[in-house]
Amino acid sequence: MSSVGTGLKGIVLDETRIAFIDGEAGKLVYRGYNIHDLAVHATFEEVSYLLLYGALPNREQLRDFDRQLKAGRTIPEPVIEIIQRMNAAHPMDVLRTACSAVVGLDENSREATVDVGLPVGIRLISQVATIVAAMHRIRQGLDPVSPREELSHAANFLYMLFGHEPTAEDAQIIDLDLVLHAEHSSNASTFAARVAAGTAADIGSCIVAAIATLKGPLHGGAAEAVQKTVEEIGDPQKAIDYIEEKIKAGEKVMGFGHRVYKNEDPRGSELRGVARELGHKRGNDQWFQILQEVERAMEPYRAKGIYPNVDFYAGAVYSLLGIPDEQFIPMFAVGRMPGWVAHVLEQYRDNVLIRPLLEYTGPRHLRWTPIDQRN
Ligand code: ACO
Repeated sequence: MSSVGTGLKGIVLDETRIAFIDGEAGKLVYRGYNIHDLAVHATFEEVSYLLLYGALPNREQLRDFDRQLKAGRTIPEPVIEIIQRMNAAHPMDVLRTACSAVVGLDENSREATVDVGLPVGIRLISQVATIVAAMHRIRQGLDPVSPREELSHAANFLYMLFGHEPTAEDAQIIDLDLVLHAEHSSNASTFAARVAAGTAADIGSCIVAAIATLKGPLHGGAAEAVQKTVEEIGDPQKAIDYIEEKIKAGEKVMGFGHRVYKNEDPRGSELRGVARELGHKRGNDQWFQILQEVERAMEPYRAKGIYPNVDFYAGAVYSLLGIPDEQFIPMFAVGRMPGWVAHVLEQYRDNVLIRPLLEYTGPRHLRWTPIDQRN
């Protein structure tokens, strides 16, 4: 009898050189570099290069890579029209459809090879950010804003979102957030991208599969759910009772728990400080205090390996920057783009069809019943 690995828990799928996670120690490493070092020193552009090429860029390499990212910032007019027509849809449906249209309209994106996938992937890192910003504007009844050449990826994203140049501090916060979200090994959406790449699908199809998988509340949707929880609690003093009731009702507390981390998620600890400082500067200490009380209420569950994850503080940070809840999952996609692209390319380099088995537990010997004899 075969053993069933439900949810592929603990199953090692393949080798990777992109990221290392030590879930017991709460450690995350991109291409050999600890996330805490990258959080302090690296920009999103440098981290993207690192993930795609396997080493930190020198000045010239970074300049050239940055030029390529900037050249990819615009999206075709028909994609803007699609976003307009889908105004009432869930933002992740809009992002998935718009991304599909971008690659569908790009006739140079079709071959499932590293040579084709790399430039298309670099363009998509920029285009996904542009799609998210344009979608936000259109949903607000505003016109999309064209990208600005001299701004960094993070600053330009905020500029396209709000229509004015962000402060250096806000741009730095988004840059850090994107760095922290850039890569996370074989998480559900990256796995989906690799499964698509394993069939020799073009990189655009792989990214669309990843976006579709990110949409679920157990993966990308947690930050939005956490922010709703914070707003529902409303008062730090009510947090402990609220969480106790949730747990008693057998519900999961959003922003807690992780398939791999059984210790503090290092990305969450980076964002905790940002949420505290930003809240203080914006005259809103309340959200942070509520989050702290929720963390306190969840302390007994640390023994079971349940700690806050990256999404726990992300929602508060986005809200404080003026980004609406409905854009939190798309924000995650903007950050995760380089990780998805790197994994698709790694899969292409040494490709094998990914096709696990399912253990069949249904009946095997039923007799065919003609339609008018069925109940
Ligand atoms: N609140 C309360 N209890 C929890 C939580 C939680 N957030 N997460 C896990 N548990 C408990 C489970 O009830 C289960 O308890 P049991 O053994 O008594 O039945 C045990 O911990 C193991 O949980 P599983 O759901 O089996 O763990 P799994 O690895 O399958 O799930 C997951 C991980 C999906 C992230 C889960 O922790 C969860 O649903 N968390 C809330 C959603 C969330 O925050 N998602 C974001 C994840 S990070 C990311 O994708 C960026």
